[in-house]
Formats: sequence, structure tokens, C-alpha cells
Amino acid sequence: MQTLTLRQDPQGIARAAELLAAGQAVALPTETVYGLAADARDGAAVARIYAAKGRPAFNPLIVHVADTAAARAIALLDDEAERLAAVFWPGPLTLVLPLRPGSGLAGIVTAGLDTVGVRVPAHPVAQAVLAAFGGPLAAPSANASGRISPTTAAHVLDPDGGLAGRIAAVIDGGPCPVGVESTIVGWRDGRAALLRPGGIPAEAVEAALGRPLDRAGHLAAPDSPGQLSSHYAPRAALRLDADAPRPGETFVGFGRVDGADLTLSATGDLTEAAARLFDVLRAADRLGRPIAVARVPGTGLGLAINDRLRRAAAPR
Ligand code: TXA
Ligand code: MG
Repeated sequence: MQTLTLRQDPQGIARAAELLAAGQAVALPTETVYGLAADARDGAAVARIYAAKGRPAFNPLIVHVADTAAARAIALLDDEAERLAAVFWPGPLTLVLPLRPGSGLAGIVTAGLDTVGVRVPAHPVAQAVLAAFGGPLAAPSANASGRISPTTAAHVLDPDGGLAGRIAAVIDGGPCPVGVESTIVGWRDGRAALLRPGGIPAEAVEAALGRPLDRAGHLAAPDSPGQLSSHYAPRAALRLDADAPRPGETFVGFGRVDGADLTLSATGDLTEAAARLFDVLRAADRLGRPIAVARVPGTGLGLAINDRLRRAAAPR
């Protein structure tokens, strides 16, 4: 299969919508990372996502919709979910909600669960494709399973860990402004829980809810090292919280550190570090040496950055 690169103009958007309507998988930019989209109502189309990514079929996918009204058509939003939707959508927040009976979603999207992860993306290209296509789009990150998430169209097509030749098209919308995946919030026993730290700081969600999130379950939680699974993985070994490089290491800095070969943010800006994270990991990996990363604070977007770094560093 020859993978088309489409421009983010009306013709490119229209072609992407046609391919999606024909049951193809198309990669597109969102504000977080590039997603690999397919019609969430068409099981065969969604199966193409799993096939292209080489993803285990028990992992449920996030469904992208144009607005909160479209979210209500596939999921049940209680008062707390409505409040978070009003504050953060469109934007990098995914809500895991009870599936609405008769939602029309293919069972493969939710991997048979009775919940669905839903988000309204803010990126203008993602919004334009949703409008042109006119339905819900299932979309995980557009990388081979377990590899670094893509934040440019070139990453999506990377011969190493990318999807060139495995998907119908990618829309080139430039670099993703947020750079880490969405924050995922779900409800356990009536209590809102942080399922994955991401592009919206957990503190901001807590402020909107007026109460703390249950943070016990997410992978960066210090009390659950056993849940760490290798993910977002570069080829090279990764050492975290490094004060300085050891001989032979590539040193990725944050803020004012000596001897850095690359930096997430020379000024110690967490927003910049999130936007650059996956790009810098790729660049460090290309140097072919073990990677050491300087300490990044765990507040705000730093929670998501540390989560991704810990998974990248996990044994595999
Ligand atoms: O920013 C993002 O969220 C990006 C862009 C493309 O929107 N998407 C993304 O999707 O990161 P993915 O598939 O790489 O990660 C989705 C995560 C998985 O960890 C999955 O297990 C979880 O969301 N998830 C999805 N539906 C769920 C559900 N019903 N219950 C629990 N977890 C769910
Ligand atoms: Mg992913």
C-alpha cells in the first residue's frame, strides 16, 4: 500500500474524509499527538488500525467526536462529566464514560467493555476532518504498538516504528502543539480517577471538580512500580533523574544542567518540554548510545512527562 501524504487544505481534508468513509485508516494531527483514525462504527475499518499498529486487540481505543453533543450520542455523561466537558472540551482530556446503549460503535473499539473513552480534539485539522466525515472516529496514537508516539507527519511515516505503507494516508498538519497524549479521567465507585496523566494538568482537573482525583491507578504513581509496562520505547536504554551523563551516554537536559547533548527545555519550561519530549527521545535514540535524562519536576505537565519517561525506561 502506498501511503498518501495529504495537505491540511480543503482538498486534503475532503480526501481524508472520503478514505475514512471507504473504511480506510488515516493518520491526522491532533493537538496532543498524531492519531490513526478510522470510522468507529465500522468494525472492519477499526480492525485496520489494530493491524497497522500491530496492537493487541484487547486494548480499547479513544473515540474522537466533534463536540459534547456528539459525545452524548455515544456515552452517558453525569454532572461531573458534563462539568469537565464544559471546561476542557475541545482539548486534551479524555473521559472514560459508560457506553450509551445503541451508540452504534463497533465492539472492537471498546474491546468489549461497557465504557468508552471519548474526547473532543481542539486541533483545527482534526475538527475539520470530523466535520467533513460526520461521525465518530476511533484513533489511538499513530505509531507501531509500544513505540514512541508521533508528533509530526514525518514521525508517522518513519521507516523505524512508523506506519508508511501500512495506512492509506497521513494529513500533514505540522508539529503537535501539546506533544503528550490527552489526560484520561474515569470514575471508580463514584470517584473521579486519573487513569493517565497527559496534556491537561491533573491539578486543573481537580480545580474544576472541586475535589482531588484518585491518583492511585495511573502508571507514574510511585506506589505502583509493578504496573510499569514498557511503552513509548526508544531502542536505547534510558536512565532517569540523572545529575550528569556517565561516559558514553547521550545526556538529555532540562533547565540549567551542564553537559547536555540535547534538552527538553533549556529554560526549564514544562510546556515546552512536553511539546518536545517525543521528538527529543527520537533524536537521542538516533545517536545510538544509552540515554540519560535529567530530573523533571512532577507537577503540572511534568506528571505526564515523567509517566512517559518511566515507561520508556521500563525493562523490556
Ligand atoms: O491524546 C490522545 O489521547 C491520543 C490522540 C490521538 O487523541 N490518543 C491516544 O490513544 O493516546 P492511545 O490508544 O494511544 O491511548 C488510549 C488509552 C489506552 O491506554 C487505553 O487503554 C485507554 O486510553 N482507554 C481507552 N478506552 C478506555 C476505556 N474504555 N477504559 C479504560 N481505558 C481506556
Ligand atoms: Mg499510544
